[in-house]
Order: sequence, then structure tokens, then C-alpha cells
Amino acid sequence: MQFAGKVAIVTGAGSGIGRATARAFAEAGAKVVAADLSEAVNETVAGREGMIAVHMDAGDEADVERTVALAVDTFGGLDIFYANAGISGGATGIFDTPTELWTEVLRVNLIGPALAIKHAGPKIVERGGGAIICTASVAGLRSGAGGPAYSASKAGVINLVQTAAQQFAGSGVRVNAICPGLIETGMTERAFTYARENGKEDKLGRLNPLRRAGQPEEIARVALFLASDAASYVNGQAWVVDGGLSSSHPVTRQEFGKPAF
Ligand SMILES: NC(=O)c1ccc[n+]([C@@H]2O[C@H](COP(=O)([O-])OP(=O)(O)OC[C@H]3O[C@@H](n4cnc5c(N)ncnc54)[C@H](O)[C@@H]3O)[C@@H](O)[C@H]2O)c1
Repeated sequence: MQFAGKVAIVTGAGSGIGRATARAFAEAGAKVVAADLSEAVNETVAGREGMIAVHMDAGDEADVERTVALAVDTFGGLDIFYANAGISGGATGIFDTPTELWTEVLRVNLIGPALAIKHAGPKIVERGGGAIICTASVAGLRSGAGGPAYSASKAGVINLVQTAAQQFAGSGVRVNAICPGLIETGMTERAFTYARENGKEDKLGRLNPLRRAGQPEEIARVALFLASDAASYVNGQAWVVDGGLSSSHPVTRQEFGKPAF
């Protein structure tokens, strides 16, 4: 996939999936605005061509507007927005999640992508079309993969891309979501460290039939596909990238080459 002449914004680009995707876009020829709340985004772009870093809050409307304006002023327009920044909100249950946590998780994870669509959309329309991609999660498909606020926020993102795809009708802007499964990033670092320190590395990702966790680059490749002309007829969808985790009800799994029971 080639993105020469294209301009992309990636939020959450200071770490994990966002960093891998921002770099992949730049390596494929795009001009990239790597955006993040964290100073770590400077490291994402350091020594790389065609990338600039911006510190911003993806859930703050003025910051999103400023980031879109920066892309347009610096690179002459905008073709792609990957609204990827997100927070987990921690491992709370429905009975002990404070209202403030609900508000913050929904602000970053759901209102953030909505603001990206609102402010990037018209600029992408000016280019005659392009792509918006939002990071949802398998947590947004059903319960069991995150706290209640996180899961609800990601379910909201799946619905958001459906609505947005409809509202861009006739403009040439496609809007899709990616639903990653367990990916090794900053967000999941504690679980990976714990498993490795306790000799339980083989437990990571074992619930999916590939029997492993995913790497950020495996999500980046799907993001590039959805942003590219190769996905020219893909619109309003939630692409699940989870090693097959969500393809089954929880059953005793048949091992390859062994009898079922
Ligand atoms: N890692 C997984 O297993 C997994 C699974 C499903 C979905 N996701 C989603 O993938 C996305 C990327 O997360 P990741 O796994 O790469 O985690 P990560 O923690 O490595 O990266 C997230 C980045 O987002 C930034 N960020 C947080 N709040 C922000 C804000 N308000 N404004 C701007 N930047 C902000 C952080 O500073 C960080 O650099 C998130 O939306 C997350 O919910 C991750």
C-alpha cells in the first residue's frame, strides 16, 4: 500500500498501536501528524521523514481542531484520520466505577473519535474523499474484555462509525472501526510483565485459536488497509482483529488433529 501525497493524523501515536501505525503510514509515503497527550510522541517521530509530533488531548474539541489545522497548514490538506487514542479506565466493576471514571473514559474513547469525525471530516471531503478509522475493541462486541465504561465506550465507537459512514453519503469519505483483541502495548504492559515474571507467558492470548497475543504492527497493517484504496468498498464496518477470539462461544476447544471429545 502506497500513501505518497496523502496526509494522515494518528492519535495515541506515543505508544503501542498508534505509534506502529503512524510509523507505518510514514514508511508507506504519507505525511503524518503523530498526536498524543504524552511527550513520548516525540520519540515516535524522532529521526523519521515526513512526520511531526503534536501534544494534544484527543477528547478536547479545541485540541482536535488545532491538530486538524496543523495537518492542513503543514502538509496542505488531510486525507486520513486514525482516531486511536484510548484509556482502559482500570479494572473496575459496574458497582464500583465512579461517575467521574465513566465520564473520562467516554470522553476520551468515544467523544474523542466523534470529535475527529466532526472536525477532520469536512477537510477530508475537501480532498474529494478519504478515510476515517477509529479504534474500538473486542470489548465493544460483548462483555468480558474490559471494565464497564471501557466496554460501553468501545460499543459506542462501533455504532459511531456506522452512523458517520451514513452521514458522509456521497462525499467519498469512508468510516470504519478496528476491534483489536489482546495486543501487547502500553495498555496491557502490566499483564504481560506479570505473566512473564510468573512463568505464565503461555497463558497470554491462549483463549484465541492462534494461541498468542497480537503485536501493534498487526493492527497497523489493518489500519493501512482500511485507509487505502484497496478498501475502497469497505464502509461503516467494525473489523475484528483478534486471532479468532470472538469467533466462538466459550466451549471446550477441539485441538487440531485430536478428536473433539
Ligand atoms: N492493547 C490492547 O490489547 C487493545 C485491545 C483493544 C483495543 N485497544 C485500543 O487501542 C487503542 C490504542 O491503545 P494501545 O493498546 O496502543 O495502548 P497504549 O497505552 O500503548 O497507547 C495509547 C496511547 O494513547 C495516548 N492517550 C491516552 N489518552 C489520550 C488523550 N486523551 N489524548 C491523546 N492521547 C491519549 C497515551 O498517551 C498512549 O500513548 C486504544 O483505543 C485502546 O483502547 C487496545
